[in-house]
Amino acid sequence: MAAPKKKLYLRTFGCQMNVADSQQMAEVLADRYELTSDPEEADLYLINTCAIRRKSEHKVLSLLGSLRDLKRRRPHLILGVGGCVAQQEGEKLLAAVPHLDLVFGTHGIWRLPELVERAHARRTVEVDLLEGYPGRRRRSWPPGVVQGYITIMQGCDNFCSFCVVPYVRGREVSRPPEDIEAEVRDFLAAGGKEVTLLGQNVNSYGRGLPEPVTFRQLLNRLAALPGLARLRFATSHPKDLSDDLIAAFGELPPLCEHLHLPAQSGSDRILRAMNRGYTRKEYLEKVARLRRVCPELALSTDLIVGFPGETEADFRDTLELVREAGFEAAFSFKYSPRPRTRAADFPDQVPEEVKSDRLGRLQALLGEQTLAAHRRLVRRVGEVLVEGESKRGGELSGRLRTNQVVNFAGPRHLLGELVQVEITAAHPHSLKGRWVREA
Ligand code: 5AD
Ligand code: SF4
Repeated sequence: MAAPKKKLYLRTFGCQMNVADSQQMAEVLADRYELTSDPEEADLYLINTCAIRRKSEHKVLSLLGSLRDLKRRRPHLILGVGGCVAQQEGEKLLAAVPHLDLVFGTHGIWRLPELVERAHARRTVEVDLLEGYPGRRRRSWPPGVVQGYITIMQGCDNFCSFCVVPYVRGREVSRPPEDIEAEVRDFLAAGGKEVTLLGQNVNSYGRGLPEPVTFRQLLNRLAALPGLARLRFATSHPKDLSDDLIAAFGELPPLCEHLHLPAQSGSDRILRAMNRGYTRKEYLEKVARLRRVCPELALSTDLIVGFPGETEADFRDTLELVREAGFEAAFSFKYSPRPRTRAADFPDQVPEEVKSDRLGRLQALLGEQTLAAHRRLVRRVGEVLVEGESKRGGELSGRLRTNQVVNFAGPRHLLGELVQVEITAAHPHSLKGRWVREA
């Protein structure tokens, strides 16, 4: 009989890419470790970290501090930190946190079994950014999972002046299309219905491959796979959003009517200082084209307030852009200076109180706009993929093709199914619905 498996506790911070990476960590360790939801019984405790803003990094450091006690009670426990903070800090993390055993960077996931082994003998750091695509494909999907994230590329070459990603995720590398297709096929064979393709900048997918392909060509290939009900992708960079890709929203049936297109700012002066590579006018032209090709499209975005040098007039340009683009949803952040990035050294850093004031005003406007978009859906019937039970319990929960969360009462056998739901009420962050029929 095989030895009983040890227990792995995994804590994930940050974006969907980190969620996908954590799933890969669990898989590469699956021979020896099984997942537990109780940190008290863990033999291996891994934290997958995010460095995008100081606040995200801070959460990781305070969690690490609070784990000193657990490590004292369970001396054999291996405590490891992976992901973007690990990549950024490397050796420094080991020095700062004496009860930490293992630091592994964004390209170290596939070597985890060996690294964990080594960490048993001595404290270990592995933060090399490898050349070429660092991962392999995931082969097993947990039963009942209908929505899957599939990474199609790693890294970023854009160097937006505020962003730490190019430093912690390395250069842009695309995964071969046949490899991606094989993973999607495995997922569909296991009962999967919705795929979200992940990359920092999916629009430039395929450039460095031995046989270059475009992102649109990859979408065509995947959209043709039998059994794929829904296809999404994130994140798109506006400068690389081609007409060809825009047209896909009117041409590929599984492609959902939702696009996340980070604008970051509505001021040309700030966009230039951010090194974004587009103007406000160019951004709005792409939005207009998208809305023409796909009138039902829901558009979401990311916005930063308080970038160095941002004046009240620049900020008003951002408010104006929000109105003109008519975003249905958005994430908004206060600018946070990151190590090694150019903007961290710019003069004219904006005071904290000004950032907070602008964020409040921006979020008020975004909140109104999202609620108005939700209200427009009331009394309409739409397709929902039932992903789970609602947070408050008692109801089922899923998303429309346009990405809004819908909660509704229905029998549990609908879990994992595509159903038709009539929207009955609009809330700020979700919709309420009434189950009409199975799709
Ligand atoms: N400060 C604030 N927000 C940032 N983002 C990236 N870097 C920073 C930073 N230094 C935001 C951008 C990006 C999203 C993932 O996080 O809006 O699109
Ligand atoms: Fe960061 Fe810009 Fe790359 Fe996005 S495109 S990951 S914001 S550098």
